[in-house]
Amino acid sequence: MANKVIVAEDLTLAYKKDEPVIKNSSFSIESGSFVFITGPSGSGKSTLIKSFYGALKPLRGELIIGGVELHNIKKSKLSFLRKYLGIIFQDYKLINEWSVKKNVMLPLLIAGYSKEVCENQTKKLLKHVKLSNKADKYPLELSGGEQQRVAMARALAHNPVIILADEPTGNLDDYSSNLIWNLLVGANEQLGTTVVVVTHHIPSQLHINFKHFHIEDGTVYEIS
Ligand SMILES: Nc1ncnc2c1ncn2[C@@H]1O[C@H](COP(=O)(O)OP(=O)(O)O)[C@@H](O)[C@H]1O
Ligand SMILES: [Mg+2]
Repeated sequence: MANKVIVAEDLTLAYKKDEPVIKNSSFSIESGSFVFITGPSGSGKSTLIKSFYGALKPLRGELIIGGVELHNIKKSKLSFLRKYLGIIFQDYKLINEWSVKKNVMLPLLIAGYSKEVCENQTKKLLKHVKLSNKADKYPLELSGGEQQRVAMARALAHNPVIILADEPTGNLDDYSSNLIWNLLVGANEQLGTTVVVVTHHIPSQLHINFKHFHIEDGTVYEIS
C-alpha cells in the first residue's frame, strides 16, 4: 500500500466552535499523487489547505501530515512541517522589500545551506521558472505571472515532499498559468512530489492521473 502523506479522520475545522466549515470528513492522500480540490466559493477550500500547513488546528478529529498529528502540534514540529511543505497562494505572498533572488533564497538559508550552495540553487530555480533575467528586480516590478513564478521557485527551493497550492493560477495570464501548471506537473512526475491544488477549474490540457476532491456543504467528497 502506498505511503499516505495526508490522513484526515472525522476532521472538523472551524473558526468559531459552533460554526464548522469542514464537518466530520475523512480522506487520505497518497505519496506522489496529484490532487485537485474544487468547491464553490466559501466552501472551505482555503480553510482545508490552511489546516494542512498548521495555521488552523482541527476542532475535532485527526489530521496527520507526514506522520505528524496536527491537533497537538508543538512549535518544534511546525518547523518540521515548514520543511516538508512548499506553499503557493493566489496572491503570491512574496516579501516586496526583498529582491526576487532573496525571496527564493530564504528557505535555503533557513535550511542552513552554505551561501555558495544557496546562490547556485537559486540560480537554477530562477532558470527553471524562466526568470533568470529578473533576479535583482523587486516583486512589485514584476507582472503577476512573474511574481507567481518567483513564489513557485521559492516553494520548490527546499525540495518539499508536498506542494500545497491555493488557486495558484487564479489571477494569471495564459503564459504564466501554463508555466505554473507545467511546473506543478513536472515536480510531480520528475521528483515524485505530492501536489495538492485548489482550483476553480481543472485544466483539460494536463495529461496526468489525478485525484479529485470536491467540498460541498462542509463535506469533503472524493469524486475520482
Ligand atoms: N479567518 C477567518 N475567520 C473566520 N471565518 C473565516 C476565516 N477565513 C474564512 N472564513 C470563513 O470560512 C468559510 C470558508 O472560507 P474559505 O475556506 O476561505 O473558502 P474558499 O477558499 O472555499 O472560498 C467562509 O464562510 C469564510 O467566511
Ligand atoms: Mg479560497
